[in-house]
Amino acid sequence: MQEHQLIDPYKRHLNYLRISITDRCNLRCIYCNPRLPKEKLRHKDVLRYEEILRIARIGVSMGINKIRITGGEPLVRKGCCKFLENLSTIEGLKDISLTTNGVFLKQYIDRIAAAGVKRLNISLDTLNPEKFQRITGDNVFKQVWEGIELALQRGFAPIKLNVVVINGVNDDDLIQLAELSFKYPFHIRFIELMPIGKTSMLDGNPLLVPEIMKKVRILGDLIPVQKDKNDGPAVRYKFKDAMGEIGFISPVSNHFCKECNRLRLTADGHILTCLLSDICEDIKTPLRLGLLDDDLKSVFLKAVARKPFQHPENLTSLAQPEQMVSIGG
Ligand code: 5AD
Ligand code: SF4
Repeated sequence: MQEHQLIDPYKRHLNYLRISITDRCNLRCIYCNPRLPKEKLRHKDVLRYEEILRIARIGVSMGINKIRITGGEPLVRKGCCKFLENLSTIEGLKDISLTTNGVFLKQYIDRIAAAGVKRLNISLDTLNPEKFQRITGDNVFKQVWEGIELALQRGFAPIKLNVVVINGVNDDDLIQLAELSFKYPFHIRFIELMPIGKTSMLDGNPLLVPEIMKKVRILGDLIPVQKDKNDGPAVRYKFKDAMGEIGFISPVSNHFCKECNRLRLTADGHILTCLLSDICEDIKTPLRLGLLDDDLKSVFLKAVARKPFQHPENLTSLAQPEQMVSIGG
């Protein structure tokens, strides 16, 4: 085993890298990629797959053992499946997962499976097709649901369904979504809406995890599930006799920074150490200047040394210029 070199000043071992391979998305979710004019990255500013693979390899040689591929929507980038295949050949990388909106799952599921991806996170904020369109901007609920069912048939596990809870929009869908866990082995994860970017959804009172829990408890007692070290920030429960689980993620009401094990690589080649901070290190420029692996390792180390202990207490006061779509959630 390699020595773990990615330890930040607060002794957190950073073994998890989230890689955004594109800032583009086919949907326009109201909490992420709102209908605002926004400049897309220029083609030449986006890391090429070979560049991402090199950075990933260096990360793994320093102690990264889990990689999640995000976007935008990763499956809109041409060659994504081949890239996943190449990524899975990196020795020492134990776990590759994919976050997707599910629209292209039906099309690519076999190639995603063949590439060695086992774990999928799929956004699903409602089971009502008309509301789905209102939230995402597109009439694709059926396509997404069929993609999810196909993923289940192909044996992906766990399949995590991400529900961003938007008060006044899908708060009346939460019970129906939680109910899915009786019939399917899905992990339904309720996520507090993060006030990131200038989304139009930030007015009003956000629904926080304690209230969300209260709502879904109508279905039965929530029995805690033993935490696993790979869990990330979700607090896990299940209903008695349910096949699946219910998770709660509370970036707003209870931040989990002290357990954070993450680094992010943005589509334009920056190592970002916190979703809610603009502290980052440019790794694309040294890479394109032809620097050696050891020099690129020092870019990782510089980023890690600057990882903030936590994001500001009062999240709602953050005036974030970024939209979630460009960082990958
Ligand atoms: N608040 C919380 N979660 C968000 N996501 C995107 N935008 C937000 C937001 N403002 C999450 C969604 C999606 C993933 C890519 O990021 O759950 O599934
Ligand atoms: Fe696209 Fe996902 Fe953002 Fe929705 S949440 S706009 S699907 S990146």
